[in-house]
Amino acid sequence: MYMNQYISDNKERFINELLDMLRIPSVSADPKFKGDVLKTAEFIKSKLEEAGADKVELCETAGYPIVYGEKIIDESLPTVLVYGHYDVQPADPYELWESPPFEPVIKDEKIYARGACDDKGQMYMHVKAFEVMMQNSALPCNVKFMIEGEEEIGSKHLSDFVRDNKEKLKGDVILISDTSMLANDVPSITTGLRGMSYVEVEVTGPNRDLHSGMYGGAVANPINILCQMIASLHDEHNHITIPGFYDNVEELSQEERAEMGRAPFNLENYKKALDLKDVHGEAGYSTLERTSIRPTLDVNGIWGGYTGEGAKTVIASKAFAKISMRLVPNQSSAEITEKFQRHFESIAPAGVRVVVKPHHGGEPVVTPTDSVAYQAAARAYEEAFGIKPVPVRSGGSIPIVAMFKSELGLDSVLMGFGLDSDAIHSPNESFGIFNFMKGIETIPLFYKYYAEMSK
Ligand code: BES
Ligand code: MN
Ligand code: MN
Repeated sequence: MYMNQYISDNKERFINELLDMLRIPSVSADPKFKGDVLKTAEFIKSKLEEAGADKVELCETAGYPIVYGEKIIDESLPTVLVYGHYDVQPADPYELWESPPFEPVIKDEKIYARGACDDKGQMYMHVKAFEVMMQNSALPCNVKFMIEGEEEIGSKHLSDFVRDNKEKLKGDVILISDTSMLANDVPSITTGLRGMSYVEVEVTGPNRDLHSGMYGGAVANPINILCQMIASLHDEHNHITIPGFYDNVEELSQEERAEMGRAPFNLENYKKALDLKDVHGEAGYSTLERTSIRPTLDVNGIWGGYTGEGAKTVIASKAFAKISMRLVPNQSSAEITEKFQRHFESIAPAGVRVVVKPHHGGEPVVTPTDSVAYQAAARAYEEAFGIKPVPVRSGGSIPIVAMFKSELGLDSVLMGFGLDSDAIHSPNESFGIFNFMKGIETIPLFYKYYAEMSK
């Protein structure tokens, strides 16, 4: 196809532009990168303009701006709303990176940098796919871009923006590349995302740090207590013990589970890739089920007391933990946060005080596979990869997707091109050149089939 010629002719430039963007450390969680996050927004604004988008602007929010741009070729044609994010996770711990996280390198046909896959690489495929369609007079419908800078910290201001700009964001479907596929020879389309409740807990014992000999044994040690409390949140079957946690959890039928089980998955390779002797999780469910259709509770960080060189004999006054719960359909983030809080406070012994601070949350989603948009995406993958894609529910979360449905009434198509081995959020994040280029090739096919099938 003529578009593929343009793509291969411009491959080097496409990659170099992505590398330029990856050099800007757009870490939204850390205010010290504020200038760089804003610079990244400017970068995307200018690339959208160069590619031919109209009305390109930075929509200011109380946080980081949303990059908006559009190309309306005919009001009577459908409109695709592209969503992506230009912020990235913190790169810590830096010492575990083989090359610096914001000095991208290409090794073994992969780009290594923070954000290479999540989501700068995947988001930029859409900017380049748009350029490809514009340059080949092949944009078959309208398109609007909204690229935000706060996904990794909960998309708070984007939800306000969506609520306040329903007319501006009027469209027919949301298109997102911020998920993964099973393998390069097993393309898949994500049909579900888990929701999230995120909390921080603080356990306070004595009013000051104490000598662990003088007081040890006689007062509650907040670190010991926190560990006991956290350990009690799972039972011997790895079920979560918070009362009512599983109320309403969607139970899949045996047929649906059998269907899911047909997705190619090799447990031995999975263990090998992670250097694990065995996997671990809720009794009665497979690994794929545990990471998609089942809710979870995980400690993301835990601290307190003395962690410096050598030994210090001390009973700390306070201990802390950050805890995430991944939610599945019919669980509500607000309700789960409340249940966690009530339970966690109730299991604290009288010798400590407990404070639970809720952070961000988000609702789970399942996207339809019988929609025109899903069918168009499936045809696009089949044509680009030569194989029919399989639908899979993912374990990750993109909280704004449920809001797109509730506020704009729009379903999302999650056309991800990453791989689990891309190590997003981890040291040495990468994105395959094959995946980046395949994405740029597949996206215009989606537009083509979506426009055609919408007639
Ligand atoms: N792109 C990910 C979500 C994702 C990754 C979905 C892989 C499916 C497969 C996104 O950037 C992310 O990391 N989301 C956070 C959400 C949170 C910060 C509210 C997550 O899942 O932890
Ligand atoms: Mn992402
Ligand atoms: Mn992420």
